Amino acid sequence: VPTVVSGIRSTGNLHLGNYFGAVKNFVQMQHDMNCYFFIADIHSLTTHPHPDHLYQNVRQVLSEYLACGLDPEKATLFIQSDVPEITEMYTFMNMNAYLGELERTTSFKDKARKQPDNVNAGLLTYPVLMATDIIIHKAHFVPVGKDQEQNLEMARTFARRFNRMYKVEEFPIPKPFTFDGKDMIKIPGLDGSGKMGKSEGNAIGLAEDPKSIRKKVMRAVTDAGPTEMNQKKPEPIQNLFTLMDVVSTPDTVKHFDDAYNNCSIRYGDMKKQLAEDIINFTTPIRERIEDIVKDDAYLGKVAQMGAEKARASASQTLKEVREIIGFRKFY
Ligand code: TYM
Repeated sequence: VPTVVSGIRSTGNLHLGNYFGAVKNFVQMQHDMNCYFFIADIHSLTTHPHPDHLYQNVRQVLSEYLACGLDPEKATLFIQSDVPEITEMYTFMNMNAYLGELERTTSFKDKARKQPDNVNAGLLTYPVLMATDIIIHKAHFVPVGKDQEQNLEMARTFARRFNRMYKVEEFPIPKPFTFDGKDMIKIPGLDGSGKMGKSEGNAIGLAEDPKSIRKKVMRAVTDAGPTEMNQKKPEPIQNLFTLMDVVSTPDTVKHFDDAYNNCSIRYGDMKKQLAEDIINFTTPIRERIEDIVKDDAYLGKVAQMGAEKARASASQTLKEVREIIGFRKFY
């Protein structure tokens, strides 16, 4: 049975990008693979969250995982900071990661641009921590969205480098996971370009109330409309269709696609439909989140069970790694 690892930072409420890029796959994979899904709360420290916010955000994401259908009896659901083995191994892995390659990472360059007053060392070694998350459970597959492609490529590099350096086959080389060989997914924002993201400020949350969803969708960037038949869709319009593809029925998508192609499309109608379809999709999830987030006893039980399972797996690998590196007991 292949092993699967993936995580989401606790930077706020999950949005449609997180769901369709990652969590939807988690839910499907948990049935027949050995899955570890976690909340990357250590990763989220790079932005210096207030301690109360950090706690509330971890709690929210845990509730959202469960509300989306992750089953703690099937998958190991845990909080990264509950597994100290990860930070120990991260220290070892840092010795084989080079400044040049870390500085060249797109996500580092982006973050350094976005938070110029806080270019901390944790941002630089972010891919090392992420690689550690993955290889400490000897993962074969990592279901992530397109934006994590480069980080995953680095995890592959670090796993290979460790194996080669110590002439061992300790770590499988983790692969991105997509269903039936499809490309990794990128859910766009509604502001005309780029991806949906928390820090892009263009995200629609799973827990967001319908009024606010309608408002955001109705404000989505469009243009004056097609001027000739079967014209290629410009990016902002394609983005609306991409979102529709994931939340609406094929008939609905076809209806608006035909309308676009014969120049009769009315973007207002399309947005109204898209907003309602997003709301229909998120409503049951939102209602479950509202119940679960209040259930301290349940959340506690889930986190504890997950921590125990994740630590069992991580400490086994760490023990092997210490031995391979040459740390031997003198007593
Ligand atoms: P994070 O927290 O930014 O995002 C969590 C997951 O959601 C996906 N995602 C998207 N997918 C498609 N379209 C979008 N617009 C979109 N926005 C977000 C991400 O690709 C990701 O799968 N570094 C990771 C967290 C992490 C991790 C790991 C992941 C830490 N350790 C080990 C896998 C394995 C991150 O910041 O994801």
